[in-house]
Amino acid sequence: MIQSPDVKYQQEIERVYEFDQEQVFRFWDELTKHEKIELLKQISTIDFKLMSKLSHDVVNNTDEISSEKILDIADIISLNERKEEESEALKIGENLLRQGKMAAFLVSGGQGTRLGYDGPKGMYPVTPVKRKSLFQLHTEKLIATGNKYENQIPWFIMTSETNHDQTVKFFKQSNYFGYDESNIVFFNQEMIPAVDKNGKFILDAKHHIFTNPNGHGGSLNALWKSGAIEKMQLLGIEYIFYFQVDNVLAEICDPVYLGYHVKHGSEMSNKVVRKAFPAEKMGVICKINGKTGLVEYSDLPEKDMYATNPDGSLKYWGGSIAIHIFDVDFVIKENTGGFKLPYHVAHKSIPYLNENGEMIKPQDMNGIKFESFVFDALLDTEKSISVEVERNQEFSPLKNKEGLDSPKTVKQDLCNLYGGWLESSGIEVPKDKAGNVTTDIEINPLFALNEADLKNKNITVDKVKSDLYLE
Ligand code: UTP
Repeated sequence: MIQSPDVKYQQEIERVYEFDQEQVFRFWDELTKHEKIELLKQISTIDFKLMSKLSHDVVNNTDEISSEKILDIADIISLNERKEEESEALKIGENLLRQGKMAAFLVSGGQGTRLGYDGPKGMYPVTPVKRKSLFQLHTEKLIATGNKYENQIPWFIMTSETNHDQTVKFFKQSNYFGYDESNIVFFNQEMIPAVDKNGKFILDAKHHIFTNPNGHGGSLNALWKSGAIEKMQLLGIEYIFYFQVDNVLAEICDPVYLGYHVKHGSEMSNKVVRKAFPAEKMGVICKINGKTGLVEYSDLPEKDMYATNPDGSLKYWGGSIAIHIFDVDFVIKENTGGFKLPYHVAHKSIPYLNENGEMIKPQDMNGIKFESFVFDALLDTEKSISVEVERNQEFSPLKNKEGLDSPKTVKQDLCNLYGGWLESSGIEVPKDKAGNVTTDIEINPLFALNEADLKNKNITVDKVKSDLYLE
């Protein structure tokens, strides 16, 4: 067995041998002392027992997650049903925001592979006129919400090793977009090694094992391990508003949603939109073996995807938009006695070092990445609720370079949203035949956070003629 330059890491070497992963030492003799320690430090962060189980399952094709699921319709509070409770929910939520009971929680640890942007996705410029980044847009919405309830909302931002430093630097350089720096907490999620088809770790440098962020489900674990939950408890926070970095229309810390969550005694809540068409690539909320959960579009059998109710409407219509509220107590429960969420597998093409130490970018799916998904936590709740929202008001994610959910569509959706607010204030807005707004319109969240705010403003124009920015 090889020897560690520092005796305190010798046990890492022993673990590597115990779990048959000694190929990670292929270039050991070529490494400097510093590189050897770097590699051993990385190894010390790996949960070998977990990795051994995951690799065993994929190599032997005994992945538990793919076991049979019996699906049924879940209760969803539809837009029609919402009308009855709306004003009560608003009051409850507003009161709690005034009391500072909610934190905002942004997950931005993903790699944004499909967008292919060189940098954290949150830095991507999205707004129609000022080209503000996702991070700036979210921050300004949060400032505006805090102002409304006279309480700046503590903001927790999860990153990963792949984008942490760049994210923090971006915020810092931009003076936190006006947020109080002491009210933002940045923390990292964990990374997890990928494996090849034989369950072996992959080297992406002579002294580094290829790892990827452990999925947005890892956020629930990171909240715990980073000490964020403890901080929230000290601040008296009871509810966490979870959102993802790419949704330009997210209504962050929406009081009505919080009101529903609390009124119904939910531990974890979901916002859903009606699927645009049966095969739309969205996870659907449904009952899974009797419990409310989410089935990914790729796991939804075709018969269920197209299943309809007697009136012809889609049976599984509620597509999740990945906006959740968690009870702080529920997140604690999820971490008590070890983190519970399962890992899903994704076959990917992973760059690796070959035996000669040359970097190979394979064409085929040579490796397997593991990721946990936040929505799996639904199955651990005693009670969860799902609330329907309007897609054009609350959901437009930036996922792809082109086509669906791309820079072009998010910009159009923002113009349509702001255009709609202006119209409801009696201002004429130019549109094409499909109903899309044809000029670039942007409204600073600090000027108006929603349609109702805008109605209270004194706007002198009666027609939008060219690009417009209101602040
Ligand atoms: P996606 O699943 O869309 O992944 O993440 P992505 O990284 O943005 O993009 P692709 O799939 O590589 O193209 C949805 C949200 O979850 C976060 C992302 O940052 C995004 O806000 N996420 C995803 C994490 O925070 N950590 C992860 O490990 C994965």
